[in-house]
Amino acid sequence: MKNKLDNNNITLAIQKNGRLTKYSIDLLEKAGLVVDTDGQKLYAKCRNFPLDIVFIRDEDIPNLVETGVVDMGIVGRNVIAEINALVDNKLQLNFGYCQLVIAVQKESSISAIRDLKNKNIATSYPRIVTQYFQKMNIPVKIIQLNGSVELSPALNIASAIADLTSTGSTLAISDLRVIETIFKSQAVLISQKVTNNDKRQNLIDNLIFRFKATQNAQKFKYIMMNAPQEKLKQIITIVPGLKSPTVTPLAAKGWVSVQTAIQEDVFWEKVEKLKQIGASGIIALPIEKLIT
Ligand code: PRP
Repeated sequence: MKNKLDNNNITLAIQKNGRLTKYSIDLLEKAGLVVDTDGQKLYAKCRNFPLDIVFIRDEDIPNLVETGVVDMGIVGRNVIAEINALVDNKLQLNFGYCQLVIAVQKESSISAIRDLKNKNIATSYPRIVTQYFQKMNIPVKIIQLNGSVELSPALNIASAIADLTSTGSTLAISDLRVIETIFKSQAVLISQKVTNNDKRQNLIDNLIFRFKATQNAQKFKYIMMNAPQEKLKQIITIVPGLKSPTVTPLAAKGWVSVQTAIQEDVFWEKVEKLKQIGASGIIALPIEKLIT
């Protein structure tokens, strides 16, 4: 693979075709990386960073990273845990959220994990599921399937399934109900545990720095408002900003303009308080990058 690509570039493996593909490319673009895919789904070059992107099946990504065939990868935590790959988890990416759940048919008498003693459980995640039941001290028989796991109770292959769920629609359509969540997952950025190449390591660190700045920016909004000068102390308590807000006098006597960063998850709650104490003309803007 390296032969086809530029050996001086670092390589990032992303999912070839699935739920993480679009989010992974979005992350690169938000970090300011220009990727020329040309609709190709084998490999792509980054125009403004020494980075090559290779499109790989999820289950192959952890091992390719572990063995250093590629420098980094974006993959679900569930895949890493199932393969038991020894890689460095560099960054949680806040997308690709899903859960590995135990589910049974809606009309089944099984209501709890202990009811599965000596029963068949179908799954594509035999390692995680085996470990879970061993830990719970419940003997079960694992039936490994590589797809269509949700059909196995109806086909009398298994009494329960252990499968990934995200929206829950596959379980609902298959008339299955969840009795336990055994693993929570999201997409993560991984790299090799040890690299002996300083130049490559610097590029990897630089890329992680960019991703973090992009992620930080998404957690904040930039907010501007007009406020009575006398309320300034209260405003600073409500929106203290990263260090402290920028305050500029307005032409109107006794009024100031306040500019600061505000966390997205408390945005409406704080805006409500600001309005109550007399702030007006409140403008909120997205932040593209945030380096703290
Ligand atoms: C997973 C899983 C379920 C489905 C659940 O498969 O195996 O079939 O997602 O998602 P939902 O709760 O949103 O319906 P996925 O579509 O990721 O592809 P796969 O079958 O190749 O694993």
